[in-house]
Amino acid sequence: MIYITRREHFSSSHKLENPKLSKKQNEEMFGKCSNFHGHNYYIEVTLKGNPDKDSSYVMDLKLLKKIIFEEIIEKVDHKYLNDVDLFRKVIPTTENMAIIFWDLLAKRLKQYNVKLHSVKLYETEKNFVEYKGEK
Ligand code: NI
Repeated sequence: MIYITRREHFSSSHKLENPKLSKKQNEEMFGKCSNFHGHNYYIEVTLKGNPDKDSSYVMDLKLLKKIIFEEIIEKVDHKYLNDVDLFRKVIPTTENMAIIFWDLLAKRLKQYNVKLHSVKLYETEKNFVEYKGEK
């Protein structure tokens, strides 16, 4: 098995707010993040598989790039995440974003002879989450 990773970037805005809580409770829970603000996100998608006998690729990274763009970047880049359909029912934390992105990618990758290994989502240089599909 070998692991391959494609890194992509997008910029989005959001605010963290639990609609079940009051404004004051949201401010206590989320601090500054309860206000409208933006991030420069980086996503790293790692696949695992064996090199193809003809191409010697696990997956052509140009194809992985195309899939990441179609499934994720085009839906979130330069968008206000709280208004994006994908996040209608959840708070757009990095955790929830990584889970939703995993689900989109896993569904799309089913038709290929690779396994999705992890989705890493960097919200800042110092904060990132990693999801491996474990419930
Ligand atoms: Ni934020």
